[in-house]
Amino acid sequence: NNTMELPPRPKLFDFHGVSMTNYFTDNWDNVQNFQARPDDILIATYPKAGTTWVSYILDLLYFGQTAPERQRPIFEKVPFLELLIPLYPPGVEVLDNLTTSPRLIKTHLPVQLLPKSFWEQNCRIVYVARNAKDNAVSYFHFDRMNQTQPEPGDWNNFLQRVMDGKMVFGSWYDHVTGWWEKKQTHSKILYLFYEDMVEDTGRELDRLCSFLGLSPSAEKKERVRRGAQFDTMKKNSMANYSTLPIMDFKISPFMRKGKVGDWKNHFTVAQSEQFDEDYKKKMKNTTLQFRTVV
Ligand code: A3P
Repeated sequence: NNTMELPPRPKLFDFHGVSMTNYFTDNWDNVQNFQARPDDILIATYPKAGTTWVSYILDLLYFGQTAPERQRPIFEKVPFLELLIPLYPPGVEVLDNLTTSPRLIKTHLPVQLLPKSFWEQNCRIVYVARNAKDNAVSYFHFDRMNQTQPEPGDWNNFLQRVMDGKMVFGSWYDHVTGWWEKKQTHSKILYLFYEDMVEDTGRELDRLCSFLGLSPSAEKKERVRRGAQFDTMKKNSMANYSTLPIMDFKISPFMRKGKVGDWKNHFTVAQSEQFDEDYKKKMKNTTLQFRTVV
């Protein structure tokens, strides 16, 4: 068993209008005062949208697999800005001490809570969004196996919480649309979709490289694409989170399925219809469109 003794699962509370747990708010002053550097690259996502995938792609693009100091788990190489959990140094502290450049930084913060230094330094930001239903299913299994997340309860209740926005990092709807609106006026945000990455990773890799001003050789691009394939990452202990003891892979592995449309194995017809109806209301004022996942 890979799990360790941790405090009981955390409770959700309202934090500046967003549901949160103490693991992401305990270090709040330091997070808000975080000093970004102009070449920092921020990976911003709602949890379970493909954060680790894009993080690993960026790490391969910038640092490759060869340097011995890069043979560390992805959650150490791409520190999680707002995280403060027992036994680990706070994300901010790890980042402050990083001397490699660029720093790759992970955040799940909704756009309105991002530390202002990222805007002042005009950092590049890669946002990844995933369709609501698959995102919810992935989050459900994550909360089952991760002791630092609130108890998910049963699927039906969990789905109600998704619709109510009572999730860690708040409402999916607010998160994806908030970042989408920001992107309309801010040129340093690349907005990617998980479904596009699954459909054609090479094409999305090209978009990523052109946004970052990188021009890797065809061989290097192919190496990155292959290194970041689901099956390859799942087997790679530096990419699959198997070295983080707060997760119980016997309940569900971090690299779970990596598919588009797995929601159909979880939603009943009634749940899907109710969800769709609610979705239309919540998303009626945005131009953000996800593909319909049939
Ligand atoms: P599933 O639970 O649907 O399998 P995050 O990194 O934001 O926590 O997202 C995790 C989700 O991304 C999981 O989804 C995981 O399997 C999926 N994922 C991670 N790496 C992937 C890859 N290389 N290709 C496709 N999906 C990937």
